[in-house]
Amino acid sequence: MIDVSRFYFILMDEIKSKLNTSQSIVVLTGAGISAESGIPTFRGQGGLWRNFRPEQLATPEAFEANPQLVWEWYNWRRELLAPISPNPAHYALVEIERQTPQFTLITQNVDGLHGKAGSRNVIEIHGNIWKVKCTQCGSITDNFDVPMQILPACQICDGLLRPNVVWFGEMLPQEELYTSQRAAAECEFMLIIGTSGIVQPAASFGLIAKQSGAYVVEINIERTPLSEVVDRTCIGKASEILTRIMSQ
Ligand code: OAD
Repeated sequence: MIDVSRFYFILMDEIKSKLNTSQSIVVLTGAGISAESGIPTFRGQGGLWRNFRPEQLATPEAFEANPQLVWEWYNWRRELLAPISPNPAHYALVEIERQTPQFTLITQNVDGLHGKAGSRNVIEIHGNIWKVKCTQCGSITDNFDVPMQILPACQICDGLLRPNVVWFGEMLPQEELYTSQRAAAECEFMLIIGTSGIVQPAASFGLIAKQSGAYVVEINIERTPLSEVVDRTCIGKASEILTRIMSQ
């Protein structure tokens, strides 16, 4: 009979020793890492506002047709996010960054919780809900107003501001994308946490890392399409698994 707890211990030990010896580590996170802070995931339950699904409001077309409505939705999301704190999984990544010579954290989350926890080298590949971008002059600035002025105007040119997040149907910021792909191709160890692995191009980073010879580990509460690609899949909550690895 297989001793599951012994297998689990060996697995955690293997991951910890790779973490300790890798000179370059890339972490890719998705909505699952923020789930334990109380933020609903994209494809899980919850997150509906006035019966709109995110796909109906997070588009350039929706903003063009009704910027007031889209900003009211973002204002509601910002009100929900403002009091939320990072959880032990976010803090474990801060500790890993502290111990690693070359560390890149790529996140698909727009909640800003990695920065709030203290992570430094973070690529927010889908943007950040606490930043705004002018639709006229393109300038990007921080904005932490809750509630916020609707409709907000650019301080430089008075143009209409939009949330600085990537909407459905939009391109990812090119520099962030190239930097992420390069980091994935050059790392020794990639950790993929709490993402369903179905939204491109972020989903391809694990494959890039694997094909370039990295050791790739996934942490998720269930198996995903990425589970077929990675070296190890750890099934469980991100905070529990990361806490376990760090204390190993
Ligand atoms: P999803 O909602 O698609 O997936 C969340 C993943 O987290 C699922 O695989 C869950 O099983 C897992 N999960 C949930 N709770 C967890 C926990 N406590 N610990 C570990 N894993 C957990 O979210 P993303 O993969 O982030 O893009 O979605 C990717 C992108 O799809 C989003 O960034 C968004 C959306 O379209 C844009 O808005 C551009």
